[in-house]
Amino acid sequence: RFEMQIAIDGPASAGKSTIAKLVAKQLGFIYCDTGAMYRAVTLLAIQRDIDFGDEAKIMTALQNAEITFKPGETDQLVFLNGEDISLAIRQPDVTNNVSQVSAHPRVREAMVAKQRAIASQNNIVMDGRDIGTTVLPNAELKIFMVASVEERARRRFAENQRKGIETPLATLVQEIEARDQKDTTREVSPLRQADDAIRIDTTALSIDQVVAKILDLAADRA
Ligand code: C5P
Repeated sequence: RFEMQIAIDGPASAGKSTIAKLVAKQLGFIYCDTGAMYRAVTLLAIQRDIDFGDEAKIMTALQNAEITFKPGETDQLVFLNGEDISLAIRQPDVTNNVSQVSAHPRVREAMVAKQRAIASQNNIVMDGRDIGTTVLPNAELKIFMVASVEERARRRFAENQRKGIETPLATLVQEIEARDQKDTTREVSPLRQADDAIRIDTTALSIDQVVAKILDLAADRA
């Protein structure tokens, strides 16, 4: 067991990955984006033309596919059968269907096993929806990151512009709310704040302020 695991959970576009990457860099820990795993499975279903509701077919495809991760210059890179899918998994067709795919119990079981294996070998900052509650229940530090839906949509809009994705702001608000609704109401490990997680509302905070806060909390637990 390594010395520290930091779990960062929260709803869509609350700033988890931006913050998690910076915290990991500062501490020299690895960063694991668990959402990217569910996104990769969703892309696999799209590529194989599998119905998002068909858990058995998705599992068969998953067993015959190789999904791997590699820390990149700025982002974690994701590969599906050797192909770099890091950009493809951020496209709206993946984003708007990932919650249906991630709700399947066997899909979750397979991804959680991968996540725990990575965490067992490294000091880690892991972000997702169920890290503090299910994946790493003994994490030394658990953060539950939230922000108003308007602020989250604005941030996503700006991020999309940089990537050349054009979705109107009002649509983004609806998509974020729909995804949160699915993620909080699914049966298996829904999005929920762990009892021992610290809630941080990032609506009015800068990235640097949130990073500094988490580094302080981590130092207290070291
Ligand atoms: O974090 P990101 O927005 O990329 O996550 C995409 C989707 O993956 C979430 O909306 C959720 O359905 C699923 N997810 C999950 N459990 C995690 C991380 C992500 O169910 N630990």
